[in-house]
Amino acid sequence: MAGIYIHIPFCKQKCHYCNFFSVASEKYKDQFIIALYKEIALQKDYLGGEEIETIYFGGGTPSILSFDEILMVLDEISKVHQIGMGAEITLEANPDDLNKEKVLELRKTPVNRLSIGVQSFFKEDLKYLNRIHTGEQASLSISYAKEAGFDNLSIDLIYGIPTLTKEKWLANLNKFFSFNLQHLSAYALTIEPKTALEILINKGKIKPVNENSIVGHFKQLITLMNKQGFIHYEISNFCREDFYSKHNKSYWFGKKYLGLGPSAHSFSGKSRQWNVSNISKYISEIEMKKIPAEKENLTTIQKYNDYILTSMRTIWGIDSNYIKKHFGEEFLSHFKFYIKEYIKSGKVIRKQDKFFLSDNGKLFADGIAAGLFR
Ligand SMILES: C[S@@+](CC[C@H](N)C(=O)[O-])C[C@H]1O[C@@H](n2cnc3c(N)ncnc32)[C@H](O)[C@@H]1O
Ligand code: SF4
Repeated sequence: MAGIYIHIPFCKQKCHYCNFFSVASEKYKDQFIIALYKEIALQKDYLGGEEIETIYFGGGTPSILSFDEILMVLDEISKVHQIGMGAEITLEANPDDLNKEKVLELRKTPVNRLSIGVQSFFKEDLKYLNRIHTGEQASLSISYAKEAGFDNLSIDLIYGIPTLTKEKWLANLNKFFSFNLQHLSAYALTIEPKTALEILINKGKIKPVNENSIVGHFKQLITLMNKQGFIHYEISNFCREDFYSKHNKSYWFGKKYLGLGPSAHSFSGKSRQWNVSNISKYISEIEMKKIPAEKENLTTIQKYNDYILTSMRTIWGIDSNYIKKHFGEEFLSHFKFYIKEYIKSGKVIRKQDKFFLSDNGKLFADGIAAGLFR
């Protein structure tokens, strides 16, 4: 079982915090779509014939794709891959694209899961982030998606925004609960290098992010999500029973995936590769029948570090039997030696052969993973 990720590298406007690859112009859209169809054929053998369990349209802004384009992309995929019955097909959507007609159209495609980028329902937060939509549009887009019959819906929210008070964060979460959705991704605002946000903060033009408010918001988040009966299955992800993002889960479980489109990453089990983050280069390399990617064979150390980093963030935790089986005794003793201090400080909880982050430990996930790396 494997997954396919398709990167749609266009946005109407760049959000100030975002460093995902995308351009704020649709100049190359038609050429890109043709190149994408060709890339599907060029990369047809990457997954070695494994059945496709999940397809994820990510971005950028996949909701700019028309009904026909979505069907054509899926059709091209199905010409060269076996798509499993009941495959999860997710599309990331921006609220300003999701009017009633668009949502009804999407419902007629095989897309069966929408992930809507709300970020906040408040004007001043959306302004700070340079989002193009309003809070009201965000609410309407969710209602339209529900009315159209989507029953696997997720929204993204961001916390730690300097304009977001404790009360407003609570209101955003209550708004989420009021829609009775299946899934929430809640991200701490990170200041990514070379983003407008970094530049504006460094110039003193906008308020910097406060670490204490990130910690406060995260604590509020986990308390409330627990109270409402959501499963906190990954640091930034919460769901109702059986509504895990199967696609993301497959990344964390080391399954193979193929990434299509500029900047998309792929993983074959032994190596990873990443496509060029440049639309015109992407198109011209595909025209020359070249796979537009750089490749790296993974060492055992890299595989071990990836395993620690990803599994530690999830509800399934780190399994010492898995370390022994896949990486050997030496890695296991390294792990056992370094995990001790985190268990002692209460950041990691041990249950037989499994190791999980405590709620407090979740605040230090990256540092703990780094402390366990080889
Ligand atoms: C790459 S975006 C694509 C989704 C879609 N274009 C949108 O903006 O709604 C996926 C999600 O990543 C999150 N994200 C991206 N950059 C972030 C950052 N610097 N800090 C926190 N969250 C971020 C946002 O919540 C966003 O919805
Ligand atoms: S957050 Fe979404 S809409 Fe904003 S720039 Fe990034 S990909 Fe584009």
